[in-house]
Parts: sequence; structure tokens; C-alpha cells
Amino acid sequence: MHRSVANTFEKFNLSGKTALITGAGGLLGLEHATALLQSGATIMLTDINEAHLETARKSLAVYAEKTSQILCQVMNVASQEDVLATAALLKKENRRIDILVNNAAIDPKVKVEEGKELTRLENFSLDQWNLEIGVGLTGAFLCSKVFGNLMAADGKGGVILNIASDLSVLSPDQRLYRKEGLEDCMQPVKPVTYSVIKAGLVGLTRYLATYWAQQGVRANALSPGGVFNQQGEEFVKRLSSLIPLGRMADHDEYRSAVQFLCSDASAYLNGQNIVMDGGRSVW
Ligand SMILES: NC(=O)c1ccc[n+]([C@@H]2O[C@H](COP(=O)([O-])OP(=O)(O)OC[C@H]3O[C@@H](n4cnc5c(N)ncnc54)[C@H](O)[C@@H]3O)[C@@H](O)[C@H]2O)c1
Repeated sequence: MHRSVANTFEKFNLSGKTALITGAGGLLGLEHATALLQSGATIMLTDINEAHLETARKSLAVYAEKTSQILCQVMNVASQEDVLATAALLKKENRRIDILVNNAAIDPKVKVEEGKELTRLENFSLDQWNLEIGVGLTGAFLCSKVFGNLMAADGKGGVILNIASDLSVLSPDQRLYRKEGLEDCMQPVKPVTYSVIKAGLVGLTRYLATYWAQQGVRANALSPGGVFNQQGEEFVKRLSSLIPLGRMADHDEYRSAVQFLCSDASAYLNGQNIVMDGGRSVW
């Protein structure tokens, strides 16, 4: 290989680094984990769901050079005790987290109760608001507070990557979710929490980007557009028509962005929200 090409790719090399991913047992968590493994990192998969973690560990094994490259820990990001317990465990094992990927979120299902569509703002309960904000936003705050502080404290720095969404910069187009034959008051919508969490993550990113900058901790957000995952034909057609590239993302299309954002390849990028949405937000 030409020497300068080799040097360029060397910046993506994450050998010797450990990355903690939250919500790692889900669709995109698995992709972030794959990306970081492929770059040579040791990964710590965390999720509230133990079964998801086990499945993830098995499916990721093909990308690992050795089994010790994949660690698993059940952790509820909304629980400060859980986050602190994981930090204590890492300390006991003398393991440092160099990269934190705040990815966990609740994907709420459309639910009708007592004749009301519960995703709609006028019916949206305070309990549901607290639950979703607790995971998507408070969870990112708690993990950043604990693991970011450790990255800063020993002066070696690190990287925080917050997984937001194209809806961090766009209002949801509620026409996408309409179901034929339902009255307006029964139409499901993208819940208000989604917009608030994703915009909040961008604010958190900017805050973190300056807070520990002198200690070498960088923070950025990645805002993916919708991933094709066997959604209904009508929905896919409607959403694709809003995207200049004319299609939803494949599940593995964010890997290279994660590799860039979590490595020295992006050493001078800090506090930004990288919107990777097939161009949806520029139309
Ligand atoms: N899939 C998409 O099209 C898409 C698009 C844009 C942004 N995103 C964002 O990417 C992230 C991952 O999305 P996904 O599609 O993989 O979702 P997913 O539902 O497949 O995975 C989410 C994971 O988070 C875990 N989780 C839920 N509550 C938790 C808690 N309290 N503590 C720890 N883990 C918890 C779940 O068990 C699950 O494994 C989310 O932040 C989502 O908003 C997804």
C-alpha cells in the first residue's frame, strides 16, 4: 500500500481501545458494535435486555479476533445505580472506557386504550413521557456524567458519540404514519418525546464538547435517517419520496460514520451533529 494511504487509515485504528455501547442488543446497537470491532476495539455491550445481549454476543463473534474482545453487561441506562455499578465493575477489572456510544432508546409501540390513541400529544401520559425521556435523554446524561468524567479524570481523554436522529433537526412528518380509515383523532403519530429527546441529545453533545475539551474528551452526535426494517410497503414508499436518494438506509450504512466519529480520523471534529439521512433534511 502507498505509505500515505496506510497512514490515513491508521487513524481509524481502534486497537487497544474499549468502547461501551448502550442499547447494544438492538438493531443499530449491533451495527455500531460491528463497526467498532472491525476497527479493532474491544467492545462492551450493554443493554437492559439480557436475551438481546446474548444474541448480540453470538452474532458478533465472527468479527472478533478473540472472545475477550466482546464484553457484556446488563445495564439500565435510566438507573444511576446500574451505571455506577458498571463503572465499579470496570474499575475492579482495571478496564478503561475510551469510547462511549449513547444509543439506547425506547421505541414505543402504537397503543389504543379506552378508545384513545395514546401516541397523540393530547393523550400522551406523563408516565410515558418520563419513561422515554428517562432512557433516551437522562440515560445519555447519566452515562456521559459517569464515563465521560472517568475519561477526563486520568487526562487520557476519549470520545462520546450520541445517537440522535434526522428528527433532531426536522419535525416529524405525521402524514407518514397515517392509517387509512381512521378518524383524525385516532391517527397514530410519532410521539413528542422523540423530538424532544433527539434535539436534547444535540444540546447535550454541544455541552459535553466544551466541558471536558481541555481533558481531551470530544463529543459528537450522529443523526441517522430511517433504517429499512421490513416496515409496511406504504410507509416505505411515503418516506422514500421525502428522501432525495429515494430510499431508506440499509442497516449497515452507518458503520463507517461510527468508525470515523469514534476514532482519531475525526480528531478535530467536536460538538457537531452529523446528519446522515440520504438528504431528507435538505429538501
Ligand atoms: N432504527 C432507525 O431507523 C433509527 C433511525 C434514527 C435513529 N435511531 C436511533 O438509534 C438508536 C437505536 O435504535 P434501534 O433502531 O437500534 O432501536 P432498537 O429498539 O432496535 O434497540 C434499542 C435497544 O435499547 C435497549 N433499551 C431499551 N431501554 C433501555 C434501557 N433503559 N437501558 C438500556 N438499554 C435499553 C433495548 O433493549 C434495545 O436492545 C436509538 O437511539 C434510535 O432512536 C434509529
